[in-house]
Amino acid sequence: MESVKIGEDVFEILLPEEQIRARIKELAARLRLDYAGKTPIFIGILNGSFIFMSDLVKEFGDVCEIDFFKLSSYGDELISSGAVKLLKELNCTVTGRDLIIVEDIVDTGLSIKFIEQLIAEHSPNSTRVISLLLKPDSLKYDAKIDYIGFEIPSRYVIGYGLDYKQQYRNLRSIYVLREEV
Ligand code: PRP
Repeated sequence: MESVKIGEDVFEILLPEEQIRARIKELAARLRLDYAGKTPIFIGILNGSFIFMSDLVKEFGDVCEIDFFKLSSYGDELISSGAVKLLKELNCTVTGRDLIIVEDIVDTGLSIKFIEQLIAEHSPNSTRVISLLLKPDSLKYDAKIDYIGFEIPSRYVIGYGLDYKQQYRNLRSIYVLREEV
């Protein structure tokens, strides 16, 4: 599927599934080296991260634990409201643990900054952030992303966990809204 039509909008392919899969293998190999001998906790930020999280931990392959936060900043809007809501807390204890925060996309950086502040209160041993996608031109907050899959332009993307009004998360590739010329 090279494009997706939603109403009058056309989304063109940005990252085909093979390219995503290959990059995740590289990221996972890097994490295996960096976390050798440790048992990290992968912490996914729902909903968007669920597919990336699943593929990443399978490729990681080593001993690890998994938990999720659920946040909402965008709701069904295309632009961030600027306010983050915590909809689900962690179930695990993070004190003294090595944490890998897993995001599908970092846009303004607001969500990651919010999570990092929340987690810092519980004194983990270490916290790093991995995001499949980063929009460098959209960053507004001082968010440090340790592992980045792809830097992409500041355009609306769907697929591979990313939604348009809660739909299209189950597309295997990532698509970008075609700009009008
Ligand atoms: C998206 C995405 C990130 C966040 C990134 O979540 O999954 O968590 O926005 O944007 P930011 O860097 O500007 O904070 P969203 O609130 O759309 O919820 P979802 O994951 O359920 O789609």
